[in-house]
Amino acid sequence: MMRQDIVEKPSRSGVFLVVEIDHTREAEEAARDTLSRFDAFTRSVGFRHPEDGLTAVVGIGARAWDRLFSLPRPVDLTEFEEIRGAKHVAPATGGDLLIHLRAEHEDMCFELARIPLDNLGEGARVTDEVRGFKYFNQRDLLGFVDGTANPRTERSLEAVYIPKGEPWEGSTYVTVQRYSHDLSSWNAETVEEQERVIGRTKLSDVAFPAHERPSNSHVALNTVTDESGEELKIYRLNMPFGSMAERTFGTFSIGYTHQPEIIRMMLRNMFIGRPEGNYDRILDYSTAHTGATFFVPTYDFLATANNDGVARR
Ligand code: HEM
Repeated sequence: MMRQDIVEKPSRSGVFLVVEIDHTREAEEAARDTLSRFDAFTRSVGFRHPEDGLTAVVGIGARAWDRLFSLPRPVDLTEFEEIRGAKHVAPATGGDLLIHLRAEHEDMCFELARIPLDNLGEGARVTDEVRGFKYFNQRDLLGFVDGTANPRTERSLEAVYIPKGEPWEGSTYVTVQRYSHDLSSWNAETVEEQERVIGRTKLSDVAFPAHERPSNSHVALNTVTDESGEELKIYRLNMPFGSMAERTFGTFSIGYTHQPEIIRMMLRNMFIGRPEGNYDRILDYSTAHTGATFFVPTYDFLATANNDGVARR
């Protein structure tokens, strides 16, 4: 069983594409064909420059699943739903396919975006395109190191993939949101205040001890546990992006988990607040513009995706 590569070291470049597939037989056939050849496309580009560490992930949205396959939809695959707090909103914008590419050089990502898009043909539209870059030592555009608390141990990495023995073993789910930041108001804050918003120190990236961490800090509200007090982890591969012409400074937020409910809990904490009203202060400087969830099957499943719409595992 071959899982899609998610847990890899952070890359210098990334491309995030959200794609919609037209409601035509040709477009849907081309989508199945592209899914079935995705691994081959990745090899065609990656094999020539292995040192560039090209990795690719393709995800399928809930509505697209129902149109493309006659197999029942994986139980936890539902469309992302808007989360509305008193002050901040996480909109749901949807999408049929997600393509997430990473490499040391942007040309590799560009090429691997181009080939599947070409294969998808006229019946596919890119509704969101973000080209992310590594910003100094893994910092976001707020200036903080982002990704430090990702799971590292064998056990916590299990959080990423559906465990052995369960249906869809080795698959996972991914939720994405595109954020923009109001850097003038952020940069008007003192570093001490910014550290209270995030819950870690800025230069040295050290976590505040739990009792010193404000309850409305980003780290506090994203620390969630199950009934037995065990911390629930997700795997994040956020990347900064921006445009001088549009004066956009953003974070493309992307989180992988085998239980999408964990990300929904985090987002409810961020937008509605824990307790209600005690929302994430990062949102006073950040606006979510998109939101979508996708299923990330194994390559074994993808290889059979073209089987007259009846994919067998
Ligand atoms: C506005 C865009 C975002 C920015 C700039 C951002 C930035 C950060 C930073 C700087 C940290 C601390 C370093 C680290 O542990 O990685 C962090 C931690 C974290 N963030 Fe975000 N983040 C954003 C959105 C999100 C979203 C939407 C989620 C949830 C779906 C999320 C989940 C987490 C989690 C789980 C942690 C680790 C908490 C812990 O210490 O256990 N972040 N983020």
